[in-house]
Amino acid sequence: MANLIEKTYSLDIFGFTGTNFAIKGFEPCNHPNVPMLKKEYVFRRETLRDVVNFIDCSFGDGMLIVGATGCGKTSLIEQVCARLQFPVQSYTCGGSTEFMDLVGQWTLQNGSTVWMDGVLTKAMREGHVLILNEIDLVDPAELANLNGVLEGSPLVLSQKNGEIVYPHDNFRLVATSNSNGSGSDGMYVGVQRQNLAFLDRFLVIEVDYAERDVELEILSRIAPNIPKTIQERMVELANKVRTVFKGEDDTSVELSVTFSTRTLIRWAIQTQRNQGAPCPLSYALNRALLNRCSNAEEKESINTWAIALFGSSFDPEA
Ligand SMILES: Nc1ncnc2c1ncn2[C@@H]1O[C@H](COP(=O)(O)OP(=O)(O)OP(=O)(O)O)[C@@H](O)[C@H]1O
Ligand SMILES: [Mg+2]
Repeated sequence: MANLIEKTYSLDIFGFTGTNFAIKGFEPCNHPNVPMLKKEYVFRRETLRDVVNFIDCSFGDGMLIVGATGCGKTSLIEQVCARLQFPVQSYTCGGSTEFMDLVGQWTLQNGSTVWMDGVLTKAMREGHVLILNEIDLVDPAELANLNGVLEGSPLVLSQKNGEIVYPHDNFRLVATSNSNGSGSDGMYVGVQRQNLAFLDRFLVIEVDYAERDVELEILSRIAPNIPKTIQERMVELANKVRTVFKGEDDTSVELSVTFSTRTLIRWAIQTQRNQGAPCPLSYALNRALLNRCSNAEEKESINTWAIALFGSSFDPEA
């Protein structure tokens, strides 16, 4: 296992210059659990501050990052860790996730039974950041088993003769979810109402889709061949769809899809890759978003807003 040597970084590594703020991380050492750095990632000052402060000192809490799908929750914590060279254990939860899936299990290897630490045990032993994605899909009774760990208590491996795993000083638990634990509002299937005592052990930050300038910066990094004026309209369309989806627009249209940053990036990449198509913007939008619409009216409405923004060049039938 690679040896971790502490190193102090400045905010420069996140693209913010001129601030005297020391952040604890580690020397680069090709650690296999440090997430891959994405150069195109654009940090936002407010959310970055919360995450960096939490990584620096958790004060015995977990951190819950709440926000709409594809707004950048998982990538935020991963990209902070990538720049600080902080090792990460990641797990994406589902409806059937049990506490023991996180703790570990006995497995059969070459005829003998061997204990395999799960992500929680590994992160606690080695001082990694544990990222639990989609935590609101898990049965609250299973998550209640994490209460002790979230308070800094050691983990007892009852299945392994009661071995005690003490939390390393650098162990942090970060969860992400689409809801704030208060149950499903119908938008995200499978979301469960979470236990109040469990939620009380988290520092909660809410993340929304990035502001226009941030999304423009993302587009300029991932699709530099698309002209700036087009990129601006792409972000405008994404924001229009988001507003209508949330019911905050005065149109009577109801949408079953929204325009995540993930979708916006896919649209831009596909547009850039399909420059030879008759209408690359429309071709790519169909694949990135419109083919997921639940009916023709929704598709029609989004197309109409796009034509209003991009002109008839958007309409392949024009
Ligand atoms: N600020 C950003 N800069 C660059 N890329 C971003 C940014 N925010 C999000 N992305 C990209 O958008 C995609 C979706 O982000 P991410 O997976 O973090 O979303 P999420 O909020 O965790 O979504 P979900 O709720 O569906 O899990 C990723 O490919 C990510 O790299
Ligand atoms: Mg995620």
